[in-house]
Amino acid sequence: MKKRVALLYGGTSSEHEVSRLGYEYVKELIDRSDYEPLPVYIDISGEWHITLRGKDLAAYPTGREGGSLYTDYGFIKIDAAIPLLHGAGGEDGSVQGALEIAHIPYVGARVSESAVCLDKAYAKAVASSLGIPTLGCVYLTKSESVDEALRRTKETVGLPAFIKPARLGSSVGAYPVNTEDEFTKLYPLAREAANGPVMVESLLTDKRELECAFCEINGKKLITPPGEILIEGFYGYGEKYGGKTETRAVADVDGEIRDRLIGYSRLLGESLGLRHLARLDFFLSGEEIYFNEINTFPGFTRESLYPKMLLAAGIDLKKALSSFIEDAIRDRPI
Ligand SMILES: Nc1ncnc2c1ncn2[C@@H]1O[C@H](COP(=O)(O)OP(=O)(O)O)[C@@H](O)[C@H]1O
Ligand SMILES: [Mg+2]
Repeated sequence: MKKRVALLYGGTSSEHEVSRLGYEYVKELIDRSDYEPLPVYIDISGEWHITLRGKDLAAYPTGREGGSLYTDYGFIKIDAAIPLLHGAGGEDGSVQGALEIAHIPYVGARVSESAVCLDKAYAKAVASSLGIPTLGCVYLTKSESVDEALRRTKETVGLPAFIKPARLGSSVGAYPVNTEDEFTKLYPLAREAANGPVMVESLLTDKRELECAFCEINGKKLITPPGEILIEGFYGYGEKYGGKTETRAVADVDGEIRDRLIGYSRLLGESLGLRHLARLDFFLSGEEIYFNEINTFPGFTRESLYPKMLLAAGIDLKKALSSFIEDAIRDRPI
């Protein structure tokens, strides 16, 4: 019998639309001889929907029958779920927690690993503890005044600096700042967008953005050679989703840099207990590599760098997805 796999998509973050596109791609890729995909749309307010017999129904994950969704038409048994969700409320351990409680096996990083990776400063702290270079950073909570934030920034990273919410993606609320005036004007905007912790880092003006893919297939953890986002300056929301940014599935970098990036990614993948898939992002400035962030559910649209890097490494995406699902079922929440 085919296994029913819930494809969770949409979500409450600014990456809602990217998630929809990811769903379209995964729906095509999933092996229909083994799996029956069940679309579960999470709307922007966080409600779960499924369509049954042409009717839109609210769905709730529950532990009944060893993992199911409850709807007005009763319980629907789920064999596994793929949370194709990005950012807060999807990639941060919250949906993963709901699936754990419902005993539904799911693809991707588990609760704590997801939460640590979603906060860029926490992930950097782990990287630093492993001897992987990161940019200096100040971590500021919501309660810190602008004056206090500026004082701590000047004391540690100095100006110019880069302000960004620690737990948002898509470059929302992220700003380079050169002067105290700019800091005073833009920090409150970042704080408002963040609605949570904000970090301030040293500003890199001359850098390349290189990323490695982590992929776990049939028990083997693989790291691909780095790909690259070809961008000058700041990789903002418009560049990410305006469809104009050029990427390379395999970056043109020298062997020593490539090997260091692969080594750092492998160390992070193992130390953080990543599962199935993740993208590890770095900056290269001159000869210096800095770890930047980890996405535990990287963009998975046809245009996204992550699936392109796997393809370039000779990995069959259909087989990779089947392997993720089977491993999730073996490693099911108790
Ligand atoms: N310290 C920095 N110096 C210069 N540019 C940065 C710095 N940090 C981030 N950026 C730019 O902002 C973009 C978004 O920041 P990032 O930390 O990757 O967050 P996210 O992708 O989750 O929004 C990066 O791709 C890069 O172009
Ligand atoms: Mg990024």
